[in-house]
Amino acid sequence: MKHLLTLADLTKEELYDLLDLADSLKKEVKKGVFTPYLRNKTLGMIFTKSSTRTRVSFETGMAQLGGTALYLNANDMQLGRGEPIKDTARVLSRYLDGIMIRTYKHSDVEELAEYGSIPIINGLTDYVHPCQVLADLQTIREHKGTLTGLKMCFIGAGNNMANSLINGGILAGMEVACACPLEYLPDEEITKRAQASGRFTLTQNVLEAAKDADVLVTDVWASMGEEQEAAQRRKIFEGIYQINDACMAVAKADAMVLHCLPAHREEEITEKVFEAHADEIFDEAENRLHAQKAVLVTLLKD
Ligand code: CP
Ligand code: NVA
Repeated sequence: MKHLLTLADLTKEELYDLLDLADSLKKEVKKGVFTPYLRNKTLGMIFTKSSTRTRVSFETGMAQLGGTALYLNANDMQLGRGEPIKDTARVLSRYLDGIMIRTYKHSDVEELAEYGSIPIINGLTDYVHPCQVLADLQTIREHKGTLTGLKMCFIGAGNNMANSLINGGILAGMEVACACPLEYLPDEEITKRAQASGRFTLTQNVLEAAKDADVLVTDVWASMGEEQEAAQRRKIFEGIYQINDACMAVAKADAMVLHCLPAHREEEITEKVFEAHADEIFDEAENRLHAQKAVLVTLLKD
């Protein structure tokens, strides 16, 4: 593993190695042990979108690993004034040991990896959100003991979360069912690859996707950068694409619920279901820290 741009680049073994390492780093933290695997290493964190979890978990993760993280708001960099990514990549590679980037276009992250000479970690693009789904898989395995054969259901827009859940879920050996409106389907190539596994279904019928699910996942109807479409999207999603009591009634009795956050209550998830599953959802948020530390150690350690 040289970079983490999308989970589709990982082998099953690499995925499970990351999850195992995330579990062991979490155990260390719980015992108060902080091994400085990344002493003297510096991670640059470029953001062109907002963040609470990604920024704080990466920054804390680097501190716990004995390294340093730099928050780089793209608007404060020359990048925001038009300096090309390929030049930024070559300059930052001379100072830093790794870059985490959150931005719009996935091709910008690929360009950073192509021109830079240090590991690049995707902290969310419009296309995928791999770090989030590593934390999601870690959380599911913690609660259920395994991933293999479990049914994961995603309800909502075919966005970055849907794409990464499909990539990660199928790679991990899960069954994945997505309920997404025809207007907002997941990426076509990711869908085709998942369909070839024989463990993927895509439907507009929310209850069919949720039936017998072990895990239900949702995300906002309009993502960052899609705010101007919010009203138009609401017309399509409202009253249909929501995790609510009706979904929970057809899912397995012990089904868990995840949400990458931030959540819009009474839109993609009801307040009642959210609060009933808050422990799982905040374990998921916590696991961003542990899963990303596993990525950092894997990519940046000498
Ligand atoms: N889930 C997630 O990535 O959260 P932030 O946008 O707060 O980083
Ligand atoms: N799909 C959401 C995820 C936020 C963590 C977005 O891109 O805004």
